[in-house]
Amino acid sequence: MTVDLDDSDYDLGSYANFMHKEIAEQPESVRRALLGRLDDRFGTARLGGLNFDPRDLRRIRRVKFFGCGSAYYAGQLGANLVEEWARLPADAEPASELRYRNPVVEEDTLYVAISQSGETADTLAAVQELQRKGGKVIGAVNTVGSAIARECGSGVFLHAGPEVSVASTKAYTNMTVVFAMLALSLGRVRDLSVSDGSRIVAALDSLPQLISEVLDGEDAISEVAKEHSGAERMFFIGRVRGWPVAREGAQKLKEISYVHAEAYQAGELKHGPLALIDPAMPSVVIVPDDELLSKNISTIEQIKSRGGPVIALTNAELPDGLADSVIRVPRSEPEVDPILFTIPLQVFAYHLAHHLGRDIDKPRNLAKSVTVE
Ligand code: G6P
Repeated sequence: MTVDLDDSDYDLGSYANFMHKEIAEQPESVRRALLGRLDDRFGTARLGGLNFDPRDLRRIRRVKFFGCGSAYYAGQLGANLVEEWARLPADAEPASELRYRNPVVEEDTLYVAISQSGETADTLAAVQELQRKGGKVIGAVNTVGSAIARECGSGVFLHAGPEVSVASTKAYTNMTVVFAMLALSLGRVRDLSVSDGSRIVAALDSLPQLISEVLDGEDAISEVAKEHSGAERMFFIGRVRGWPVAREGAQKLKEISYVHAEAYQAGELKHGPLALIDPAMPSVVIVPDDELLSKNISTIEQIKSRGGPVIALTNAELPDGLADSVIRVPRSEPEVDPILFTIPLQVFAYHLAHHLGRDIDKPRNLAKSVTVE
């Protein structure tokens, strides 16, 4: 597949800045990532750029994702999906750590280098170090012809289109969509049934529509952001599926608003961070309607009982008055929730930074592409 780009990719049109434009483009950019890759009949996905046949896929015993910043958080979401669907051990690591810590490289591990630009120095160096040790590395890259794409040789292009804003939105989302397809194809050569595969294919196929629904609720999210724009610090709390969502949500907020945003696993709150909860520290709590719903409701109660304001991000029916503010997310399949749940947090961060009058596309001290150490 080729993606035709034209000048409109670099034209703001009616948008005030590129981040807002790129958030709004996501129904379309996700559609591009999915195009021609979902196989409805066999309930799987086909990622042609990998050049893997089913036997190659079956030989993989472990998956390791690595990248920097949002790419690393997308990798964590991907690792969770690989474990859920393929039942293979999988994890994610910052490329800057991986490249320096003399990793144990195994032949039956699939290494996935993640990068929007394809030029990030630490990610490129990690690719080269893994390859030098005989590791099989594929790329999940947005920019065709970039250094990481060339170095990896095979991989999956993200097809997000050019991303101009320093804070990644559409490229991040396409990373997670591509990892869902990778996890699905790894699962379907193992024990994931055709019916589960078809359920997942249908959920991925409906993502563009569901993202449009999230974006239709932008005004309500902007109101919540405005209410909390006086906060100097904020927690983002999630567990299991919600944990990468919390991390990316905190990342978006800190980079463009300069609010001190910290992500924490819900169950770890009581081991230290609860001491920070007070009326000046709002917590965004990720509450998907899954088997951990009651645990997440208890988390909200713990925060409330210490006087902390709570913003619940949820697709569940929560008891009245439980949270101070609620951001609603449309329902999907539980495993796909983390992809969808990140979109309202992009919108939240965007509007909060906007209320604070920040230079959204060019946050202080940050660069779009970090090609030096
Ligand atoms: C920079 C950007 C981040 C991005 C990271 C990785 O820090 O500010 O938004 O997530 O680099 O970039 P890459 O191009 O490798 O995805």
